[in-house]
Amino acid sequence: MTAALHTSSITSLPLIARGKVRENYAVGEDRILMIASDRISAFDVIMSEPIPGKGALLTKMALFWFDKLDGIVPNHLTGDDPLSVVSDAEKDQVRDRAMLVKRLKPLPIEAVVRGYLAGSGWSEYKAGGKVCGVELPAGLQNASKLPQPIFTPATKAEMGDHDENIDFERCAQIIGRELAEQVRDIAIRLYQRAADYALTKGIIIADTKFEFGLDADGTLTLMDEVLTPDSSRYWPAESYAVGSNPPSYDKQFLRDWLEQATVDGQPWGKVAPAPTLPADVIANTAAKYQEALDRLTR
Ligand SMILES: Nc1ncnc2c1ncn2[C@@H]1O[C@H](COP(=O)(O)OP(=O)(O)O)[C@@H](O)[C@H]1O
Ligand SMILES: [Mg+2]
Repeated sequence: MTAALHTSSITSLPLIARGKVRENYAVGEDRILMIASDRISAFDVIMSEPIPGKGALLTKMALFWFDKLDGIVPNHLTGDDPLSVVSDAEKDQVRDRAMLVKRLKPLPIEAVVRGYLAGSGWSEYKAGGKVCGVELPAGLQNASKLPQPIFTPATKAEMGDHDENIDFERCAQIIGRELAEQVRDIAIRLYQRAADYALTKGIIIADTKFEFGLDADGTLTLMDEVLTPDSSRYWPAESYAVGSNPPSYDKQFLRDWLEQATVDGQPWGKVAPAPTLPADVIANTAAKYQEALDRLTR
């Protein structure tokens, strides 16, 4: 395995943006080199220590899913080799962890699909029986499976902010009704195919977030990472029980540790900077990402 990479620095290409996990570099006018670093965030705060192997695993997993989802909607992959667009000295920062993709005009919404009630979905349901305006039957519990998967869009928050759940009407106002309907129907089909497959491997995908963009011709295209444990709630099927939130597959060690971590004798307030991660939290987290990939692809 190559050395862990917290932050890439490719100087032969213009940097477009640094996200929580990825750096995007422009390759000409129409392509992007997306480098998945080994950074990890929890409670929307980026940790100082990288998780070795994480970027490569996420990239492998996203590529696996793009392949599985083929035929539903075009995706941003070009098939071009990411190593071909950087200098020799920069190849170690790119190998196994990058995608060379079509540069798209991102839609300003997150296409979230939920098959189960969890997180902000569960909170909204408890408060008013609905999630993003979708009426749900009474009597559901935390982690209940929904009668069918629902589209629960969110706005894209700026770095450091939390995304905001919106209803379908708001989504239609933002991107146009026809496009919103197309995104909703496609996102649900993508989720359904992925969730059905994952379940055969003992993984429940409780919910997931897709991102879409438009290409130069205005064609709706699936972009970003897809169906990784970073963009989805993965639950091990064997420990699933209605009524309590199952431990998340990948970040549970980290979240549990952060919940009890102290900084200068005080509980950590979930704002940057994060406390220094101990080696066992790093190792356990890395192992969980690996296990998720092994399960899905075995
Ligand atoms: N094909 C694409 N064209 C343009 N932007 C893209 C494409 N694929 C992904 N992106 C954007 O690249 C960024 C990926 O970086 P990431 O670290 O995941 O960011 P974030 O912190 O927003 O999750 C996201 O802002 C995503 O919207
Ligand atoms: Mg992202």
